[in-house]
Amino acid sequence: MFKICVIGAGYVGSTTAALFASLGNTVSAFEINEARLESLRAGNLPMFEPGLQGYLREGISKGRLEFTNDLSSAANDADFVFICVPTPSLEDGSADMSFVLQAARSLSGIVKAGAILITKSTVPVGSVSDLEREIARPDVHVVSNPEFLREGSAVFDFFNPDRIVIGSSNRTAAEKVAELYAKVQAPILITDSKSSELIKYASNSFLAIKLSFVNEIARLCDGLGANAEDVLNGFGLDSRIGSKFTRTGPGWGGSCFPKDTRALSALAKSFEINLQMVDAAIESNLNAKLHVIKILRRSLGGQLQGKRIAVWGLTFKAFTDDTRESPAIHICQLLLEQGCEVVSFDPQVREVSSRAIAIADSAIDCTHGADALLVLTEWPEFSEAIPSEVLESMAGDSVIDTRGVLDPANWRAAGANLRILGNSN
Ligand code: UDX
Ligand code: UDX
Repeated sequence: MFKICVIGAGYVGSTTAALFASLGNTVSAFEINEARLESLRAGNLPMFEPGLQGYLREGISKGRLEFTNDLSSAANDADFVFICVPTPSLEDGSADMSFVLQAARSLSGIVKAGAILITKSTVPVGSVSDLEREIARPDVHVVSNPEFLREGSAVFDFFNPDRIVIGSSNRTAAEKVAELYAKVQAPILITDSKSSELIKYASNSFLAIKLSFVNEIARLCDGLGANAEDVLNGFGLDSRIGSKFTRTGPGWGGSCFPKDTRALSALAKSFEINLQMVDAAIESNLNAKLHVIKILRRSLGGQLQGKRIAVWGLTFKAFTDDTRESPAIHICQLLLEQGCEVVSFDPQVREVSSRAIAIADSAIDCTHGADALLVLTEWPEFSEAIPSEVLESMAGDSVIDTRGVLDPANWRAAGANLRILGNSN
């Protein structure tokens, strides 16, 4: 078993640290955020990630997992150092590498001879070479090993990945990284570091393109009076297309797709190459949100100004507490701009940066006196709500379901003027 250091204990870093510890390795995770650090040390996961807390506590109690703000003690005897710090978007869309490069610089005088530095964070193509320059240690190899973990199912994805991608010009270093995954059943693809970095961007961008297309077809279904659920089922059953990632919604969001599509597009432009499909997917994703506003306006007889809108769901999808680039928050902001009053509820969100978005204590409280109810995230508890109770609490009867989670027969029987995205005629 190995000694592993993880730099940055966020969504990706905490998962990486706790699950490598569960495979028998000794893991020390470095984190700069004091509140996050204290919480992790106490065995309390500071974010919502189903199933992870148990692994965190098990790792700590078995003495295989620790969290620290002392980089030297975390990294000095590590065989592998995973970099899991953020790579947010800069103004031109490109990825901000300052945290990653700073981590490499700090590690230069600390890591032992022969240690392997691994980029888990999504980094621009060519970053491995930049990191090698930054760490300036010929005895230390830098290897790309992108993460493909979905929030909400990160534990399952860690143990059951579709593939493990490892990129390095040094075959021995790549094979050492592959050994870390010996207990995980998955195809391992070893390639050069640039190709590995590009696989990550290409995968996320393709999925974003697929979703933008799916949502465009759903919008067309709204115009035509066709049923998007059936159309997309029929489309996904073609094995060349596939039924995964065919659920309509209010647009794609989260900490990866928006940032990664922008970064790939910016990277291509620096080579005077236009990735028109990626750019179109980004633009189309804004239209997905505007379309939700359009359906809502139509349902309210053309008037949004002064309306009280109850919003169910603020996270970018269910089973996470993450609101980064959430389409739900963006839609709330668009509603505020239209002069609406917005009262929201999300089982995992107690505050958002915009104070104008009110947060209720429960799904039913949120609907009190509302002219319309807008469902933006597919939390199971929204499917379980009792339509008659909700409609009694509301002032109006307009209900818009952008995730297909409400039972249409029940809601209509209770008197809802229900519109389902992709089937809203
Ligand atoms: C991060 C990257 O944003 C993403 O590009 C990559 O694909 C995976 O890693 P995530 O884990 O979701 O994603 O980010 P976040 O939850 O913000 O965690 C990053 C952690 O690093 C935070 O806890 C932050 O406090 C910490 N950090 C940040 C450091 O420890 N050192 C730093 O210099 C900067
Ligand atoms: C993504 C990648 O899937 C994962 O491999 C890793 O690279 C990190 O980024 P994540 O952002 O956690 O994972 O969420 P994901 O499940 O991919 O969903 C992204 C967005 O697409 C969400 O807003 C989600 O609601 C939306 N989505 C997804 C749909 O609207 N319909 C679908 O069928 C699937």
